Amino acid sequence: MERKKILVTGGAGFIGGNFVQYMVDKYRQCDIYNLDLLTYAGDLTKHKHIETKENYYFVKADIAEREKIIALFEKEKFDYVVHFAAESHVDRSITDPGVFVQTNVVGTQVLLDASRAVDVTKFVHVSTDEVYGELDFDATTFFTEETPLQPNSPYSASKASSDLLVRSYHETYGLPVNITRCSNNYGPYHFPEKLIPLTISRVLKDQKVPVYGDGKNIRDWLHVIDHCAAIDLVLHEGVNGEVYNVGGHNERTNLEVVKTIIKLLGKAEELIEFVKDRLGHDKRYAIDPTKLENLGWKPSYTFETGISQTIQWYLDNKEWWEKIISGEYQNYFEKQYTL
Ligand code: NAD
Ligand code: DAU
Repeated sequence: MERKKILVTGGAGFIGGNFVQYMVDKYRQCDIYNLDLLTYAGDLTKHKHIETKENYYFVKADIAEREKIIALFEKEKFDYVVHFAAESHVDRSITDPGVFVQTNVVGTQVLLDASRAVDVTKFVHVSTDEVYGELDFDATTFFTEETPLQPNSPYSASKASSDLLVRSYHETYGLPVNITRCSNNYGPYHFPEKLIPLTISRVLKDQKVPVYGDGKNIRDWLHVIDHCAAIDLVLHEGVNGEVYNVGGHNERTNLEVVKTIIKLLGKAEELIEFVKDRLGHDKRYAIDPTKLENLGWKPSYTFETGISQTIQWYLDNKEWWEKIISGEYQNYFEKQYTL
């Protein structure tokens, strides 16, 4: 039987990187192509142990570069596309929204056109719960697949726009698509601009941890490996045109998350520093994953087991994140905060 080709965009980033490793190991009979522009968030050193595997390929490209992407698809004739590549950080979208539209909206449209041109078997668009907007603190409701889209940040607006384009390519051209909308991920190779890896790396260095506002905003946390398994399931079993929410019922306030990490690392809560709130800061996210559970998905980590595993990973892989926090990222952090 001919080997299937699976294109993963954004496979040098956090979730895409974990997904590439998961797929290279699990599907030896398939060729896994990692396409990534290697922006500040992309890093290939994480793939050292798979780069010599015969089913792994890397292509450096910008998903918004139409001619190059169409030519690549026509040459390789990918069977499946799993689309992670994006600008992903809300704070960066507040200071510089333009690149979010270019990559997340224009880039997705280019990939949809390229996928149509070669009749892919499936296009999975990896989206986010942030497209639904926010829930009230005291609400007992959850985001379902039917919740109206009401994005509040330039990041989530760009993701919602790309979701609508993906939907339209299914409705108009019959492209076999799925959209997944996941809650906050954490785990190995999480870029230290995001709350959990930022807290771990700063606490380990006895540096202050900036908590926005009063720290009462709520996020619903999922270990990245459970997200990878969900996407794999949707890739193979998802009903064309359907949206699947991904989340593990792990709602925590930001303050709870930060205090848990500080406690597990045996440090003092004096490291917490309350800073100016994020503009348009969404209050609460919470996912109802019933539809995906009915497809057969179940998370393997609780927040407690996942956060301990993650902290251990950061302790064991200091070299990886120390290189990042000492580079260009440091300038971004210093501009962002005046601690
Ligand atoms: P990330 O920022 O860690 O990685 C993004 C990757 O995309 C990087 O490797 C970067 O180099 C690449 N990239 C950026 N612009 C590109 C371009 N123009 N062409 C090609 N590659 C480009 O992001 P992440 O946290 O791993 O998120 C991956 C996807 O999952 C995103 O689409 C995001 O919206 C979605 N998502 C993230 C979370 C989360 O908690 N991190 C939750 C739900 C959904
Ligand atoms: O919900 C899914 C989304 O989760 C993804 O779509 C995004 O790509 C991903 O970045 C993430 O967005 P958040 O804005 O929720 O993640 P972040 O880690 O930036 O922030 C988590 C919470 O912590 C949020 O309420 C803001 C707060 N925060 C964040 C940082 C970086 C702080 O209090 N201090 C900080 O320094």
